Amino acid sequence: MVRLALFIVVALAWIVPAFAQSEQAPIIRYDARFNPVIAPNGMVAAQERRAAAAGAEMLAAGGNAVDAAVATGFALAVTLPQAGNLGGGGFMLIHLAEENRTIAIDYREMAPAAAHRDLFLDAAGNVDRNLARFSLLSTGVPGTVAGLVHALENYGTMELEDVIQPAIDMAEDGIAMSYPIAQSLSQRGERLQRHPASARYFFKEDGSAYAGGDLWVQEDLAWTLKRIRRKGAEAFYRGRVAERIVAEMEAGGGLITMADLAAYRPVEREAVRGRYDGYEIIAMPPPSSGGVHVIQMLNVLEGYDLRRLGHNSAAYLHLLVETMKRAYADRSEYLGDPDFYPVPVAALTDKGYAAEIRSAIDPGQATPSAEIAPAKDLRAEAPNTTHYSVVDAAGNMVSNTYTLNFSYGNGIAVTGAGFLLNNEMDDFSAKPGVPNAFGLVGGEANAIEAGKRPLSSMTPVIVLKDGRPWMATGSPGGSTIINAVLQMLLNVMEFDMNIAAATAAPRLHHQWLPDRVFIEPGISPDTVAALVAIGHQFGRPRILGATQTVMAGPGVVYGATDPRRAGGGAEGY
Ligand code: GLY
Repeated sequence: MVRLALFIVVALAWIVPAFAQSEQAPIIRYDARFNPVIAPNGMVAAQERRAAAAGAEMLAAGGNAVDAAVATGFALAVTLPQAGNLGGGGFMLIHLAEENRTIAIDYREMAPAAAHRDLFLDAAGNVDRNLARFSLLSTGVPGTVAGLVHALENYGTMELEDVIQPAIDMAEDGIAMSYPIAQSLSQRGERLQRHPASARYFFKEDGSAYAGGDLWVQEDLAWTLKRIRRKGAEAFYRGRVAERIVAEMEAGGGLITMADLAAYRPVEREAVRGRYDGYEIIAMPPPSSGGVHVIQMLNVLEGYDLRRLGHNSAAYLHLLVETMKRAYADRSEYLGDPDFYPVPVAALTDKGYAAEIRSAIDPGQATPSAEIAPAKDLRAEAPNTTHYSVVDAAGNMVSNTYTLNFSYGNGIAVTGAGFLLNNEMDDFSAKPGVPNAFGLVGGEANAIEAGKRPLSSMTPVIVLKDGRPWMATGSPGGSTIINAVLQMLLNVMEFDMNIAAATAAPRLHHQWLPDRVFIEPGISPDTVAALVAIGHQFGRPRILGATQTVMAGPGVVYGATDPRRAGGGAEGY
């Protein structure tokens, strides 16, 4: 009898964990150098920890992924002023698990009615870069407030007054100035100091810089947020906030009028979709170029045995670069606002077209970009855009990227309203063939027109596995966003990395023009030498993107914030 009991105990001790293991994906992998944050119910991964926590607070209060995403979006406007915003725009992808339905919300900025194609040309017909990037003419009609409120009203479960409250509290009571933001402000302070309102909002009364840990109160921003709490998006687009935006425009030569603000609408669009190795990729359609080109590149790359080549081997990186060149060449020609230009989405994401691209790639030799089109110079821009991803207990996911374009936009804050304005008009092609701040060239498809939205590289993505939301990711990084997201997806789907390891792995970037490969530190000199030997040219190494990722696993959820940018958080509940 004792023996039988002992046998049962031993057998159970063996069977139960074996059964549990077969049901559960491994939670911590001891063969991984990086492991994600794990939580039982929900997760928000964002570039600023307190904003991620604001979202997680909504999940803990019973809210869904959209409630959390909207809370994080408003909170980032307070805690991450270089990219979190009320005065910019972006894209939100929502996947509702139970309905198996994706919503793609375009809340990109819009050119004001008085904008025209030669807006940034001087008397000699050359692009005036200062005008395009640092004047009020560079500001498109902001979309963020309309986008966040639209998402909440249609797909959230909580009241606006609840999800906006953490942002209000942090603006009104003040937060400790974070070390990364203190450093970023001291580096970029000169641009902000030129405008009295910006100087007042981001520096101390005596003009000196905040140090990390100093209390930083944003009273005027709290005023704007409280008006939004009371009156919704109306407050921003028609009320006293709108009047303050227009007063700033009139004082500084900007174009945005009360009519432009009142006319702004977020647009729900059909997401672009692709398949890779059994996974379904859902991404943002134009005016984002990111979704189209991530899917286009995955279509090309699925025709190779990448796993056999090995992660970040020279042979693998060669194929990545050759694929990137061709996708970015297409971007310059075909991508723009689909309401103004017929973007050939189906043709670009067609598997047959991907096969044609593959057949043009020489596996042993780089094709010079000059054989595809004339070379142009790349100008690197500092951290700007920001991304966050959310998953809730029901498996719903949100993938949101939004931006002011440059860090701190054009550096001009709305006097009395406490927030910075975007310089997104520089994402249009100011003149065909002349590169924008990210070195990207464009043509007719992305020329400036009244009411049009500038082409973007922002690439929020949601991946479904077996029809269920599995992973949400995205990145800042201007023109490098698309390639950062591509490598994140390949690292997970192709190379089986967990999302933290996939985030940390060194990346590279090529955008067709200039004909240069940009690598991160961590790609070996031997690999670079092998690539140089087959014709690749390299620019100076740089940091590429900062992904924020969540993943649903059996029984738990995972989060990974990118260590490339300090201060991020994956906050679970
Ligand atoms: N402003 C950068 C982008 O939207 O691509």
